[in-house]
Amino acid sequence: MREQATDLEILQRLTRPAGRDVVDVGCGGGDLVRALTALGARVSGIEVSEGQLARARANDDGSGARYLIGSGQALPLDDASADVVVFMRTLHHVPVGEMDRALAEARRVLRAGGVVHVAEPLTEGEWFELTRMVEDELEVRGEAQAAIGRALRAGLGRADTVEYEVAIEVAGVEGCRSRMVSVDPTRAGVFDAQRAPIEAAFERLGQPGPRPGTRVFGQPMRAQLLRAE
Ligand SMILES: C[S@@+](CC[C@H](N)C(=O)[O-])C[C@H]1O[C@@H](n2cnc3c(N)ncnc32)[C@H](O)[C@@H]1O
Repeated sequence: MREQATDLEILQRLTRPAGRDVVDVGCGGGDLVRALTALGARVSGIEVSEGQLARARANDDGSGARYLIGSGQALPLDDASADVVVFMRTLHHVPVGEMDRALAEARRVLRAGGVVHVAEPLTEGEWFELTRMVEDELEVRGEAQAAIGRALRAGLGRADTVEYEVAIEVAGVEGCRSRMVSVDPTRAGVFDAQRAPIEAAFERLGQPGPRPGTRVFGQPMRAQLLRAE
């Protein structure tokens, strides 16, 4: 049985981010950037999507974090400028042929003794069942695990692996739609075309959430800590 935990709890346990220079690759709306900054890390949030980066900046109320446009496979950062590079649910979004490059980029920007934290959702669980109705990520998630398996070629040795389960809480089917579409706007059309079966799956899977109108779905995750060799 996997432990129930949040992404931040596992990240904190494996990387001890306080007082360190942390890069969040694919920071989305910036939740993790702000949480890490609040813990005392100096954080750079990197996003390939202008829309996501604008959301992250708008959500930030002066945390002191910096936000930069850029991709995982071409980080807009100097060599040896970070202590921790995080890929939180991001590596499988990097084009398959560029995943090795993204890990090599992470190694390039790390200082001696630095670490890469790659957390990837596994291809199982209630949230996976729901999301695969909109976009089946079975193949790309497998490719991300394979790239992590080759990380030593980029000078990153495997230091630790933790599997855990996160609880994803969404406010109704609309909350589910906006979470999925925020990652990729082209999902909106697929979601709307599939709305009836998604609504049925939404009721069948998951549990009532702690807040009125919300539902919680389990998603198993694997976090792997890679150390600069
Ligand atoms: C599933 S979301 C995860 C967002 C956030 N890390 C989180 O855990 O909530 C994946 C994010 O990766 C971004 N992304 C996609 N391709 C990328 C790339 N090549 N380099 C960096 N970020 C990328 C997307 O824009 C999106 O914000």
